[in-house]
Amino acid sequence: MRGFSYNRDMSEEVIIVKGPTALQGSVRVSGAKNSALKLMAAALLGQGASTIRNVPLISDIDIMGEVLQRLGASVVRDGHDLLVDTAPVDSCETPYELVTKMRASISVLGPLIGRFGEARVAMPGGCQIGARKIDMHLVGLEALGVKFSVDHGVLVATTPEGLRGTQVTLEFPSVGATENMLMAAVVAEGETLIENAACEPEIIDLANMLNAMGAQVSGAGTPNIGVQGVPLSDLHPCAHTTVGDRIEAGTFLTGGALTGGPVRVEGIDPSFLRMAIMKLQQMGCTVSTGEDWVSVERDPEVPLSCTDIQTLPHPGFPTDLQAQFMLLASLAEGISVITENVFENRFMFASELMRMGADITLDDHHALVRGVEGLQGAPVSSTDLRAGAALVLAGLVAEGETRVHHLEHIDRGYEDYAGKLASLGAAVVRVPA
Ligand code: EPZ
Repeated sequence: MRGFSYNRDMSEEVIIVKGPTALQGSVRVSGAKNSALKLMAAALLGQGASTIRNVPLISDIDIMGEVLQRLGASVVRDGHDLLVDTAPVDSCETPYELVTKMRASISVLGPLIGRFGEARVAMPGGCQIGARKIDMHLVGLEALGVKFSVDHGVLVATTPEGLRGTQVTLEFPSVGATENMLMAAVVAEGETLIENAACEPEIIDLANMLNAMGAQVSGAGTPNIGVQGVPLSDLHPCAHTTVGDRIEAGTFLTGGALTGGPVRVEGIDPSFLRMAIMKLQQMGCTVSTGEDWVSVERDPEVPLSCTDIQTLPHPGFPTDLQAQFMLLASLAEGISVITENVFENRFMFASELMRMGADITLDDHHALVRGVEGLQGAPVSSTDLRAGAALVLAGLVAEGETRVHHLEHIDRGYEDYAGKLASLGAAVVRVPA
């Protein structure tokens, strides 16, 4: 795909952080990875050239671009804009080698079924943070009339009687299942009601793009989403701007809270971060907000206060900020209990942080974090996207040098992470390993 280069072997580079170092200043967040990927998939329903703006320069986007190209689409990146022309799409098959590169490829399932009435998508595997099952995707789509079979690891979807509107209650407010159901229900015959739907801001962003394409979705952002199906021929391409990335914003705000700040993140709707803001305030930070920015600061002479955190579906505390807040808690006065309710294996970051001197006891999905005086720089390895980002932040406050390896994880979801931290004053460089 023109303008992309995800083949670059980033694992041969390291980020070196010299601590302690303070972060101060403003940084603009990129568009939300967890929205842009689905907006690209939704473009399949537009059957023409859609423009998606504010798309981050990250490797997951490159891979989704290749998924769409493999289907026959043309995807051209122009800076932070993507021109996605799906008129030429003539296949409904997404191969194993792309799905294994990025689980989110499963997001083409719903729109392919909506567009062609069938799909063949390789079953996604698990990843470091959990099994990442798709049973709820299948149950929801089956309720719309989809029949599934598995052919040697490939999920085969057909709609012998077409897509019919239905009422489905999701067992868990799964983001991916809600999105796949939405992208099929918009062209189902009749009305669909999705109960216990995911309420993440990225769901609202997707619904807004689908409606701009001619769909009729209501209630996105609430647990009850209504869809009035329209004929596929009613859907058309559109131009849509991706919302700011609330997890990237929360990551930089954590950096400001760690080092004192003030750090201001721009290009983000503060309402996306209410729970994270509340937790920063509970830990002793001063947070101010504006229409599209959030700022955090703290007196570095006053230790952070401990707090308990339960990760939950939105508007609960986001699991994608759990590692970042575990780092904050490891330097807070007292004991914090962090409970990970969303993924079954998302505490691997703790073991790397303990190598820097943190004091954490893990017990199933609870982490008991005892605050320590300080951390020591060390060579560490990213285990997943958010853990990697948090390890770089740990290097900001640790004494000495921290070398973070396996940057391919960070590059999946953070555009120019080292550069943005350096623009805030961090002594951070990215160099060949
Ligand atoms: C999305 O994953 C995000 N990824 C994740 O961000 C995020 O952590 C997650 O939502 C929760 O907010 C993208 O949007 C690409 P889920 P998704 O379906 O859709 C289980 C990051 O770091 N489940 O809400 O996969 C599942 O295993 C990533 O940016 C089933 O059991 O999340 C998980 O334990 C990490 N069966 C939980 O539900 C299903 O059919 C939440 O999954 C679906 C999900």
